[in-house]
Amino acid sequence: MIDKIKETVAFLKNSFSGYPRIAIVLGSGLGGLVDCLKIEKEIPYSEIPNFPISTVRGHKGSLIYGTLNGVEVMVQNGRFHHYEGYDLKTVTFPIRVFKELGVSIVILSNAAGGMNPSFKIGEMMLIRDHINLFGDNPLIGKNYDEWGPRFLDMSEAYSKRIRNIAFETAKKLNIHMQEGVYVGVTGPCFETPSEYRMYHAMGGDAVGMSTVPETIVARHCGMEVFALSIITDLGIVGVVERASHDEVLKAAAAAGPHMVQLVYEMMPQL
Ligand code: HPA
Repeated sequence: MIDKIKETVAFLKNSFSGYPRIAIVLGSGLGGLVDCLKIEKEIPYSEIPNFPISTVRGHKGSLIYGTLNGVEVMVQNGRFHHYEGYDLKTVTFPIRVFKELGVSIVILSNAAGGMNPSFKIGEMMLIRDHINLFGDNPLIGKNYDEWGPRFLDMSEAYSKRIRNIAFETAKKLNIHMQEGVYVGVTGPCFETPSEYRMYHAMGGDAVGMSTVPETIVARHCGMEVFALSIITDLGIVGVVERASHDEVLKAAAAAGPHMVQLVYEMMPQL
């Protein structure tokens, strides 16, 4: 694993002309951010040594280096999901690579099912905390102390500093934003009504199939994490508004512009 990361990092150091502090991982239908980027270089995953390839429709596969609102960024345009068959170390491989390239802030986005009764489809939720229900953890196995601690503190997985910047910025832009706890599950099934009820009862506000592994690894190597969900369907007791994958993509695309605007405006403040 270490050798693979070193090889990938060496390749990317030769390919990119700068070293961004910020990496952004784009989730379902949130590709709109790419249109606001000043792209310096874009490399398909297939050309990057050791990079996995995303297999889900609607998820692209390239690494972009450029600037967003004048700030240098690295964008992972298309992420890897556990349900595609990748183990969690593979899912989080790009995060380790970002760290080695000098990134200190990771911004993650995803689509999620809302369980909080005050949520509506198309709303944005700032992730305050998560519950890991993957039944797995990317840190299982030998710990490399130079990467991070064996027993990782998760008392502030999602940076309070950046959450405050997000709230202030959203207020200024008059963008409506919910806040809550993200429950991470493997998928690929959506939840039964009983599962939604259980996840809400245990403290979850939204549920989705990503983000948690990346957050754990980013925290392990000392990076700050900021994450946003777009609520694409509802699993509220009595109101299960089920979504097909197409509907999830449609809702994510409709809500995307607000998320893009928010992240864009936050950039120089990070
Ligand atoms: N459940 C899990 N993952 C999801 C959902 C959901 O309802 N919506 C979008 N991703």
